[in-house]
Amino acid sequence: MANIPARLKAFLPLKLLNQGKVRDTYELPGYPNLILVVASDRLSIFDFVLNTLVPAKGEVLNAFNIFWKTQCLPRFLGDTFSHDLFAHGAAIDKFLPAEMCGNEELHKRAVIVQKLHMDSIEHIVRGYLTGSGWDAYRTTTPPTICGHVLPEGLYDGSELPYPIYTPTTKAAVGHDEHMDVTVARRQFPGAEGCVTRIYSAGQEYARSRGIIVADTKMETGRRSPQHVNGFILADEVLTPDSSRFWDLEEWERLRAERKSPTPWDKQVVRNWGKAAGIHRCRPQIEEDVEWVHKQVVPESVVAETSATYFAIFKRLTGLTLPEFQNRFLLA
Ligand SMILES: Nc1ncnc2c1ncn2[C@@H]1O[C@H](COP(=O)(O)OP(=O)(O)OP(=O)(O)O)[C@@H](O)[C@H]1O
Ligand SMILES: [Mg+2]
Repeated sequence: MANIPARLKAFLPLKLLNQGKVRDTYELPGYPNLILVVASDRLSIFDFVLNTLVPAKGEVLNAFNIFWKTQCLPRFLGDTFSHDLFAHGAAIDKFLPAEMCGNEELHKRAVIVQKLHMDSIEHIVRGYLTGSGWDAYRTTTPPTICGHVLPEGLYDGSELPYPIYTPTTKAAVGHDEHMDVTVARRQFPGAEGCVTRIYSAGQEYARSRGIIVADTKMETGRRSPQHVNGFILADEVLTPDSSRFWDLEEWERLRAERKSPTPWDKQVVRNWGKAAGIHRCRPQIEEDVEWVHKQVVPESVVAETSATYFAIFKRLTGLTLPEFQNRFLLA
């Protein structure tokens, strides 16, 4: 991917299969159906990787993903839910070459997942109206988002009558585009129900901990493209990189004023990026990429992002990151 600063290139003695904006995936010798996914501290907005690392961000993202896939979602969804996670924490050592074993940094950042054929779609589910959903709502008559016709009179921050599925394309480079829901339903029959159930379970749990998941993005894959159904939840799920989180108490307080709460996620970085002009840049244009890499993210933005991710993790799981790691990841 052109858009990744050279100093963030991969470091492991395995064959690098793919470098995403945040995660690096590696082949595992002897295990053709598994891959190693390592979460880095990279920070991305508007489809650009910024030239800044957020200390321990990859660790906390990895812990979120493991928490949801192994601790929380199976309790809500039982057998109706399948995910890609195969091994995490110190248990990954069984699948690694001997010289990579016992590496706590990897135990905190990496997971081994089933290597899936990824579906070329980003599944977005919204339970609340904000962001590009709000933009579509307020500029259409009757108010419509991705083909869902919604009641009049909602505001930026409103709870929707029911969670809606608003998928986008998954662009290799550049910005994803909104998809009409009927097209997505035809191409990926059954996926909408699967990801909406995951969102609703996550939202119900998060609300019980005082957090609203306003919307979220998920990815799915299948064991083979011939598997018509059988969507498996892949990649990250319900993290502050992939979701909009709000504080429940603030949302309830602001409801009377018909106002949206302060975003509690990566929005602080997006706000800085917007003020700097990054949202107008195009990831497929080399000069734009070089210009973005010269922009210095202020330390205060990095510190606030890091503090936010840690605070949400604690609120959601009841554990600090080191407590979670000691209990579930380190031998
Ligand atoms: N189980 C899996 N099998 C195969 N590929 C996977 C699996 N889980 C995740 N991936 C892929 O690994 C990569 C992870 O990289 P990363 O999370 O940085 O994503 P990205 O696509 O660059 O960015 P973003 O998620 O922000 O759109 C993605 O390309 C994702 O589709
Ligand atoms: Mg991803």
